[in-house]
Amino acid sequence: MRLLWPRLDVSLLLLALAALLLLVTRESPPSCPTPERPTEPEGDPSWAPGPPRADPAPCRANLSVSAHPDFAGLPSHVRDFLLYRHCRDFPVLREPRATKCARPVFLLLAIKSSPANYGRRQVLRTTWARERRVRGAPLRRLFLVGSDRNPQQAQKFNRLLELEAQTYGDILQWDFHDSFFNLTLKQVLFLEWQQTHCTNASFVLNGDDDVFAHTDNMVTYLQGHDPDQHLFVGHLIQNVGPIRVPWSKYFVPALVTAEDSYPPYCGGGGFLLSRFTMAALGRAVRVLPIFPIDDVFLGMCLQRQGLAPRAHSGVRTAGVLSPSPRVSSFDPCFYRDLLLVHRFLPFEMLLMWDALKQPQLACGRQGSAY
Ligand SMILES: *[C@@H]1O[C@H](CO)[C@@H](O)[C@H](O)[C@H]1NC(C)=O
Ligand SMILES: *[C@@H]1O[C@H](CO)[C@@H](O)[C@H](O)[C@H]1NC(C)=O
Ligand SMILES: *[C@@H]1O[C@H](CO)[C@@H](O)[C@H](O)[C@H]1NC(C)=O
Repeated sequence: MRLLWPRLDVSLLLLALAALLLLVTRESPPSCPTPERPTEPEGDPSWAPGPPRADPAPCRANLSVSAHPDFAGLPSHVRDFLLYRHCRDFPVLREPRATKCARPVFLLLAIKSSPANYGRRQVLRTTWARERRVRGAPLRRLFLVGSDRNPQQAQKFNRLLELEAQTYGDILQWDFHDSFFNLTLKQVLFLEWQQTHCTNASFVLNGDDDVFAHTDNMVTYLQGHDPDQHLFVGHLIQNVGPIRVPWSKYFVPALVTAEDSYPPYCGGGGFLLSRFTMAALGRAVRVLPIFPIDDVFLGMCLQRQGLAPRAHSGVRTAGVLSPSPRVSSFDPCFYRDLLLVHRFLPFEMLLMWDALKQPQLACGRQGSAY
């Protein structure tokens, strides 16, 4: 069994050593001219040894769960989840300028993305997630990102995200490991951010960066709804429960939940909700323990608030099946009336976006575009 804290202590030790070394080298007379450092004057506190910044103290593992007889046999990501489940305060590394939500936003596109998914973000910026007005309704885009688990990679990706933030102003990044079992954490932190920074977005699309969202159709659909009423629609999943086979990506052992069933929820690939429901979820996440599967967790939050998710037949997070083997399931005519489909490669996003924009898109006959 390998716990995480010994590694943590080693890195602390290294940090202290490095700080000591810095102190020693600074105190010995320089043998060659020291380079000019105009922005770091002598005695600048950022160069003093010790904790560099007053960010929230790193959250420590709760080791009491590791005493449980089942703990040692669990997959490492599940053990990791259990040890850090209580951690919820992570510093924001990058956030959009206040102008993002200064004027009324009709639909806020909040897209979960991993640091490495630059290609996906780039194609979304020019296709369905482009910031624009649709039938008069303003759309705004935000990518929700964590940090890479490997410190060296993280440095690289943080620079990349800095460049993206400067150029596009659409990055909301926190200092936690971006992993599958931390998606709920991302969801919780986004809800908290939205409740303080973008409360007047009327509706939110919460989704993944590998879905095709027909944002024009979404606006048409949402314009028939009141943002101050409950709305939570997507691909409805019900009468399912935890998967207990350890090799599944969705494996949830009894140590995480003893419940046999999940409340109804919408598939996390993409769902739409109103600002009323965002606020209700914001209240629920403060009191519910974090559950590692993010979409199920939102189902739990809805249930706690006495609200229910609903199905929308236009949201196909399980993909689209072609009605006939002679017609490609990539046919834009299938997508014309849909809201969201999982999953698309970046180049497919561009092709579909382009095909749907063609005014002469001819449907209802064989042999159309693809
Ligand atoms: C640590 O975990 C135990 C059970 O595993 C729990 O009772 C306790 O409240 C947890 N402590 C914190 C700080 O979350
Ligand atoms: C979630 O992120 C925290 C902070 O980076 C990390 O300590 C924890 O191990 C991560 N959990 C999982 C399951 O990846
Ligand atoms: C939108 O947000 C801004 C800034 O927080 C606020 O001044 C304004 O009143 C809000 N508008 C609505 C309709 O809530």
